[in-house]
Amino acid sequence: MADFVTIPQIDAASSAVRARIHTQPQIALILGSGLGELADSVENPTIIPTQEIPFWPVSTVPGHKGRLIIGQLEGKEVLVLQGRTHFYEGHDISRIGLPIRVMQRLGIKTLILTNASGGLKDDFYAGDLMLIKDHLALLPMAGENPLRGPNLDEFGPRFPDMSAIYNPELIQLAEEVGAELGLKLKKGVYVGLSGPSFETPADCRFLKMVGADAVGMSTVPEAIVAKHGGMAILGVATITNKIDPDGTNKATHEEVLQVGDQIAPNLMKLLKGVLRRL
Ligand code: HPA
Repeated sequence: MADFVTIPQIDAASSAVRARIHTQPQIALILGSGLGELADSVENPTIIPTQEIPFWPVSTVPGHKGRLIIGQLEGKEVLVLQGRTHFYEGHDISRIGLPIRVMQRLGIKTLILTNASGGLKDDFYAGDLMLIKDHLALLPMAGENPLRGPNLDEFGPRFPDMSAIYNPELIQLAEEVGAELGLKLKKGVYVGLSGPSFETPADCRFLKMVGADAVGMSTVPEAIVAKHGGMAILGVATITNKIDPDGTNKATHEEVLQVGDQIAPNLMKLLKGVLRRL
């Protein structure tokens, strides 16, 4: 039986969070592999380990701490998820959307998604930041859509529009902030796969051919649930490894975490600049 997220579960999870916070978060951030340190700059933090939230899909990946940090960043009320949960950990795809539903229940209207990804495009290198202009939903195309199952009408329609899933105004804002800070931002299409195995050379050649610029194992299910619930989404992919022009991908998780550490300061500057101007 598929484990579809239900309204009572969303209510239980969001009540558990609300009971422990005194602020009204306005912006949520999800931090990808190796990027969790950004959470340390949250001021007046309330920290909630996600294991303490009912129905939350628990994250088991090294480099993913699994906690919510609620407080202020650049004068904005934020909720930061440090340590997202991935489909490959074994949860049903619907459950990967539960954190997003909780954010929506808490009244959060803006979501910033970050991730680690492999660079497919020829001029993408390890250390680059890529603004996600669109995504290729291969997993949902193959049937693993987080909205599969009874539609939660109070969040959004049965057949939601995905034509501008990453908010054009937020992309423009991030580009302006990047230019001000002298960051050379890339922009491209992110493809979300299941993982946990990395891609074969044939996979990579296929992904390039169908228009993907960066490949990772997250973000797409969260973005779909967020858009369904009417959130404005900004997606930033960190390129942690370059995929060779012939499709060879020799990435390791250690490398992903290590390069993530190196990119984190630039990502932090960008996100702080965006938050200031939101
Ligand atoms: N492939 C898939 N996921 C990833 C990669 C990659 O090359 N790098 C970081 N996450």
